[in-house]
Parts: sequence; structure tokens; C-alpha cells
Amino acid sequence: MEPFVFGTATAAYQIEGGVQEGGRGLSIWDTFSRQPGKMKDGATGEVACDYYHRWKDDLALMKQLGIDSYRFSIAWPRIFPQQGVYNPEGMQFYKEILLELRRLGISAAVTLYHWDLPQWAQNLGGWDNRDCAQWFADYAQKCFAELDGLVTLWITHNEPFCASFVSNLEGRHAPGNRDLEKALRAAHHLLLSHGLAVQAYRKMGGRHQIGITLNLAPVYPATASFADGLACAAQDAYQNRWFLEPLFHGQYPQDFCMLLSARCATDFDFVQPGDFAVMQAPLDFLGVNFYTRNVVEFDPTALLLQHPAYTDLPKTEMGWDVCPETLTDLLRSIRTYTKLPVYITENGSAWQDTVTDGAVHDPQRADYLLRHLQVLAQANREGLNVAGYYYWSFLDNLEWARGYSKRFGLVYVDYRTQRRIPKDSFFAYRDFIAAQRGEG
Ligand code: NOJ
Repeated sequence: MEPFVFGTATAAYQIEGGVQEGGRGLSIWDTFSRQPGKMKDGATGEVACDYYHRWKDDLALMKQLGIDSYRFSIAWPRIFPQQGVYNPEGMQFYKEILLELRRLGISAAVTLYHWDLPQWAQNLGGWDNRDCAQWFADYAQKCFAELDGLVTLWITHNEPFCASFVSNLEGRHAPGNRDLEKALRAAHHLLLSHGLAVQAYRKMGGRHQIGITLNLAPVYPATASFADGLACAAQDAYQNRWFLEPLFHGQYPQDFCMLLSARCATDFDFVQPGDFAVMQAPLDFLGVNFYTRNVVEFDPTALLLQHPAYTDLPKTEMGWDVCPETLTDLLRSIRTYTKLPVYITENGSAWQDTVTDGAVHDPQRADYLLRHLQVLAQANREGLNVAGYYYWSFLDNLEWARGYSKRFGLVYVDYRTQRRIPKDSFFAYRDFIAAQRGEG
């Protein structure tokens, strides 16, 4: 068996800044974040962690962490700032990062879509438009052609649930729609674009591994009542099965389709013959972002018949339950869909960090991280086949609509000066990795 991979993760819009540099075009997050009231404190990604200029120092710091692999995303609008217009300068930016990683002996996991859709694509309908799937596949193909020799894991999409439902039904993310039918079409076209990109990768003889990252959460009913059981099934279908079933069973969850068509006018006419076969293009791994569980109760007034229930577990700054042991339930349920190796492509927690005498003491983050690693070690003893773990995130960064108020980093960022301060959790993770390698 391959050695377990330890890593850490980031995403372009959350850290890069430099939004007007290197020939980058606008993304939907530039547009969204400039609209009043969309982002906490009016935050934008204009400067973020200024990684666009500081990436070399950040990678040097990453080297000190001792990780095997770094997961980051490519900003599509840096590669194709306008429709059909290729920007070599954008590609060069990522090539240099990848070359530096190779020099440092850190492998790369590259996400092609971490939500920053080019604004030109949105102007043509974005994920609502079926053509967007092909635009994505063309962009993916260009990245494969230019970078495949330097990338170990390719991740087509990050959390298509967020890019479809959170962005188009819940309206909390760009482009900010509140329309169930639009969200369903977006989900379909995202999954289709994933399949087209995987097919393109195989066709060109890609030499590494390719997969997709889903944000999955085990769901539990608040009580044993029949109604809460229904609520639980609805939430599970919404966040988990809506993506797992097409990818691995070639269909949407039939039970949930009934509820959805009662809730909007859709007759699923966006599903064309052959689409599920494309979505099911064989993968090399499944990426899973795991943060918490969901506990829900029945709510007859809610669109999808459920809402989050009160729980008394300790919570992170995001209000999410800390419950590492529920990851085992999730991994077991994933095994009813696929035997593919699973990478935990994100796991992490936000806390109220403060700098004291030049240090950041964050025992809760270290505890969260180490407890999840223990659960994974146990899961692998059970044969659940988890191949690696990426802590989210390396740096504090733009937590989307919540702005800079939520800090997930192993490294503290002082946004006034852009000074980086490794937190205590950075050293805890470093020591854990070293101990695993027998260097501790
Ligand atoms: C998942 C997303 O992929 C990432 O962008 C986000 O910052 C983290 N979760 C934390 O919410």
C-alpha cells in the first residue's frame, strides 16, 4: 500500500489577490463581492493573502510543515480571461508554483474549479447554460496539456453542492440566485463538465490520477420519529446523494426527484440521453471534504421539509459541531457507493485566534486536527481505504461571504501587514507528521 499522504489545502480566490494582474479576467466572485450586502464587512478577494506576490515564501513555510502534498486551485479566469482567449501568463504563474513544489519535494493536488467562474461565462448563463460544461472541459484540457507532468492528483470540481445549491438556491454564494430549478440545472451541468473533463484526460493519455471532491456530511435525525426520519432522508439526498448517485449509480435519487418536482416546475428536461454515462467516467479516487455532521428535524414549512436541529456538542466559530467520530459513519456509507481510495481533501476548523507575544495559541484547532487523524488511522485499520488528508487551510483566508472574520489557517495572517505567524497547530501537525515518519 502507498504511504498515507499528509497535506494542506487552499483555493485561488481565497488567497491570491492580484485580481487585476497577470492578464486575469473577472470572476463571478469579483462581481458578487462588489455588490453591497453580499459579503461580511464588504470583504473582497482583491488583496486577500497577497499570495500572488508571496507564494514563494508561503511554499518555503509549507516545507517547514513537512507535508507530502499541497492542494491548491487554478483560477479559470487567469487561464481564459475572455471566451476563447488563452492567457499564457496565467498558466505560467501556476507552472512556476508547480516547479517550486517539485524542487521542494512536495507533490501537487490541483483543483480546476474552486468556484471562481469567469464572468464572461456567467454573462452567457454560467452553469445554467449546458455549454458551460464544454467550456470547462476545454479549460481543463489546456491545464492537462500544460501541467500534467507536474501534478499528482487532478480534482475537477470542489464541492459541486456549493457551486450549485448554495450559489443558486440558497443565494449565499456567487452568483447569488435563489431558484431551485436553476440550481438543479447547475448541478447537472457541473457533473456533466466533470465527466467531460475526465474523458478528455483519459483520451489525451493523462499519466496521473483524476477525481472529484464532494462535501459530504453524515446526516442524523433529531429524534427517532417518522417525520424526523423523512427530514434526514431529504437532507441526505440534497447534500450527499444528489452527487454520489449520478457519479456512481448513473441516476439522481428517485425519491428526492419527486419532492423536487413538487417544489418547482422542473421536469428534468436538462437531462439528455447519455449524460449519466459521461458523469460516470471512471475515476482514480474520490475527494471528500469533511467538517461536521448534520442533525435535522422535520419542518413542514421548509422548501425541502427540514431544518437544522439544536445540538449540544461543542461548536467551532462556524457554528459547526465538533464530531470527528462521525467521519467513520460517513466513510462506511461511501463504501456502499465505491471502493475507490478516498482522500480527505479538506478538514479543518475556525476559532477566534489572537496573537500573544508573537504567537498564536490554538489548542482547539490542534485538538480538532489530531482527533480527525486518529479517526482516520482507525478507519484504515477497518479497511476503509483513506489515502490521505489535507488540512484546510494552510493560511487564514477569505471565507467567502463571511469575509476575513473566520480563521481556518495553520498560519495566522495579519491582513494589515501580511505578516505570517505559524500557529501552535502548525507545530502540532508538523510534529505529528514527523512522528509518523519515525523522525519524531
Ligand atoms: C469548503 C470550501 O471548499 C472552502 O473553500 C471553505 O473555505 C471551507 N469549506 C471552509 O468553509
